[in-house]
Amino acid sequence: MTPQLSLAGPRLAASDGVVCQPTVGGGQAAADRGARNAVAPGDGPILEVRDLCVEFRTSKARLRVVDGVSFAIEKGKTVALVGESGSGKSVTSLAIMGLLQQPPAAVSGEIRFRDAAGRQWQFLELSDNEMRAFRGDRVSMIFQEPMTSLNPVHTVGDQISEVLLIHRRMKRAQRREAAIRMLERVGIPEAARRAEAYPHELSGGMRQRVMIGMALACEPSLLIADEPTTALDVTIQAQILNDLKSLQREMGMAMLFVTHDLGVVSEVAHSVVVMYAGQVVESGPTAEILQSPRHPYTRALLASIPRASADREQPLTAIPGTVPDLAHAPAGCRFHPRCSQAVQGRCDVQVPATESPADGRTVRCLRWREL
Ligand SMILES: Nc1ncnc2c1ncn2[C@@H]1O[C@H](COP(=O)(O)OP(=O)(O)OP(=O)(O)O)[C@@H](O)[C@H]1O
Ligand code: SF4
Ligand SMILES: [Mg+2]
Repeated sequence: MTPQLSLAGPRLAASDGVVCQPTVGGGQAAADRGARNAVAPGDGPILEVRDLCVEFRTSKARLRVVDGVSFAIEKGKTVALVGESGSGKSVTSLAIMGLLQQPPAAVSGEIRFRDAAGRQWQFLELSDNEMRAFRGDRVSMIFQEPMTSLNPVHTVGDQISEVLLIHRRMKRAQRREAAIRMLERVGIPEAARRAEAYPHELSGGMRQRVMIGMALACEPSLLIADEPTTALDVTIQAQILNDLKSLQREMGMAMLFVTHDLGVVSEVAHSVVVMYAGQVVESGPTAEILQSPRHPYTRALLASIPRASADREQPLTAIPGTVPDLAHAPAGCRFHPRCSQAVQGRCDVQVPATESPADGRTVRCLRWREL
């Protein structure tokens, strides 16, 4: 799912990079309200998501596709959001970016963001104009499908330049220079020449690099990368992931890295949040989750990763069945129809709560201590 939306929206100046000062539309009232929505400076994570719920409402039904999701990301760290197709990863990301149209979506919970000056913002309390001033500036996203996010009728240099005009109000010559510098930073050779190219004139890998350049143009504090390399071949994928990690180190930004592939998680993430059918089923530091997964779903995901060293005669262990249709979510544990450890009369009846043993991990399974 990819929104057909501009990253930036109406022209808003970022002023001192702390309080959004709209120059057109919204006016001073919005700026004042923005200032009121920020609380005193302090330490803590760059992003804290607490009990995030997203429902899609129609006249006939309410579909809760994100259900009580919580996690936090510290400065300079990466959290991987993992799960099969349809588990709610993109909807969670779009909710954080304020990109879900409400209605039909209804978003609740808390999304707290701490800016470079240490001030905290409650994203769900900001107006659309205030959120637009954050997007593409202090908070940025690389979308799942780059071609639907790049504008085919503008050169890639102009598209990066536009982000700088909106958020930094730089002069034309400065913007051009900064756009070329950004194309160089994201690994595009002959950047000055490539800045004049249209998206269709570039390879898939180059287009994805342009998307990364647009997202990083204003050096955001938080980057959400939604399956940024899924459509690319493995060599290009590895190069882009390495470049993204270097840029993250340089800029010190926090990153939410969305993927359905647990194989790339160890390469990029400090911690992992595993989602199933809209809920977090397990979370914790990457090494621990990969070495000693506690939830049967995480174990099944890990067992389904192809390994170069594996015995060719051994079939890959696929997870039986599919992610449930949330309009008819299974009773008890949502994973029970596919779980090899399910116990009849227990797992299909009792809803597991999220447990947080005092080791920085969470798990949502009735039987995790026995398994
Ligand atoms: N606008 C919408 N209206 C109704 N349901 C939606 C809407 N957008 C997403 N959904 C549903 O929300 C659920 C989660 O979708 P989401 O796109 O977040 O999955 P995902 O984990 O990102 O999957 P993928 O790996 O395929 O990208 C799916 O069941 C999807 O059909
Ligand atoms: S609660 Fe039961 S069905 Fe659900 S993951 Fe744990 S063992 Fe499997
Ligand atoms: Mg998605």
